[in-house]
Amino acid sequence: MVKAKKTASGRLPAADLVTWGTAAARAWPELQPLLRWFSEHKRDLPWRHTRDPYKIWLSEVMLQQTQAQTVIPYYQNFLQRFPTVRELAAAPQAEVLKAWEGLGYYSRARNLHAGAKYIIETCGGCFPESAEALLKVPGIGRYTAGSVASLAFAQPVGAVDGNVLRVLCRLGNYPWQQGNARDRRAGEALLDCLHQTGRYPAGPLNESLIELGAVICRPGAQANCPACPLQIVCKARLSGQVQALPGPARRLAPLPVEQRSFLLLINQADQTWGFVQRPASGLLAGFWEFPSLDGKVSQEEIDRYLEEQGYRVLHLDYLGQRRQIFTHLIWDCDFWRAEVSLPLASGPPAVTVSPPGEPPGLAALPDGQTARQLAEPGQAYTPVPRKPVPAAPAPAAEQAPGFSQPTSWLSPAGAAARFTFPRVLQSFLPEPGAAAPLS
Ligand code: ADE
Repeated sequence: MVKAKKTASGRLPAADLVTWGTAAARAWPELQPLLRWFSEHKRDLPWRHTRDPYKIWLSEVMLQQTQAQTVIPYYQNFLQRFPTVRELAAAPQAEVLKAWEGLGYYSRARNLHAGAKYIIETCGGCFPESAEALLKVPGIGRYTAGSVASLAFAQPVGAVDGNVLRVLCRLGNYPWQQGNARDRRAGEALLDCLHQTGRYPAGPLNESLIELGAVICRPGAQANCPACPLQIVCKARLSGQVQALPGPARRLAPLPVEQRSFLLLINQADQTWGFVQRPASGLLAGFWEFPSLDGKVSQEEIDRYLEEQGYRVLHLDYLGQRRQIFTHLIWDCDFWRAEVSLPLASGPPAVTVSPPGEPPGLAALPDGQTARQLAEPGQAYTPVPRKPVPAAPAPAAEQAPGFSQPTSWLSPAGAAARFTFPRVLQSFLPEPGAAAPLS
């Protein structure tokens, strides 16, 4: 149907994309059945009830790596906490990350926050309407610019994510490959040209393609062609190529795996847990976690390391394994529950933090007593300076491999309400706002 010169691999040279897209769009099959199907069958999702660009932007960012059903409660809670772009821009980053906690890929939250600040500070609070202007907002790429411009402002511009690319690839039976940047540009050129024909309303065209890719035109054998409103015009279906398209991505090198052993270190005296903050830069910067050891460590080794640090280990139980996959790295984590008595005065300084709304008594003192035991009701507790311990020449303790000492002792509920944790730790903590700490 389209007469454009192809390379040996059957793909188009970049320079010809617009010419190719214009011709392909002109010869493209009628898409009204898709738009009708969408208006009758679309899922009822909260971001489909609004044209507010801030809410549409938020939904698109959340949906980038996450399924719609998972996103819904996060979307609603986030909007409750930050109902407008102005409130988001004014919030401290730690609060934005807290509202994002559990969704993962936290750079999305940081970018969203940076974008909100840009819209308030550089655009005077006026949301950019065109895809070109949206592309200048930090963190907004072609897909998000296209979806916000088309869904909120009815601008005739495409929004091509992996799902939409698969639909276009199959409808045209193109030899595209997943993850190939040039094939993606071809898809973007084609969809932009389809918009420019003026035959279809911009928002519904993009959203119906997104929906078809998400629920019907699924990858590989999950494709449900009999339910597809475009089945009679789909060239991949007519030539038996649906499952093969788009072709598989080039195999990437396997991600490096880092083994970590996390300790739920519990102060037996008052059942507070030990927490430690990650460094201010790098992976999960500033997040909190349980104290940990590098590598896979045996029960005997953990017992020995803790004793060497001055803890007395009362119980030590293995809780199980969890894995967290980042974009560039995998953590394989073991979890241990260690009920301990804290080191007597000679141990590491126990910095204590009281979460908001909790009396300072929840923080443990180095001598194993709690402030609650010491303070009069209604009185703030002032820690008594610790007595220096006569320096006994102790045998040099073998340094635990990467052992990160806890710096804060809190109830798990207090910590969950106050700190942001990597996803892999969350199932060990109560939901933020839950009253009772885990035992
Ligand atoms: N509506 C608009 N964008 C969407 C998306 N990415 N997933 C599901 N529904 C959407």
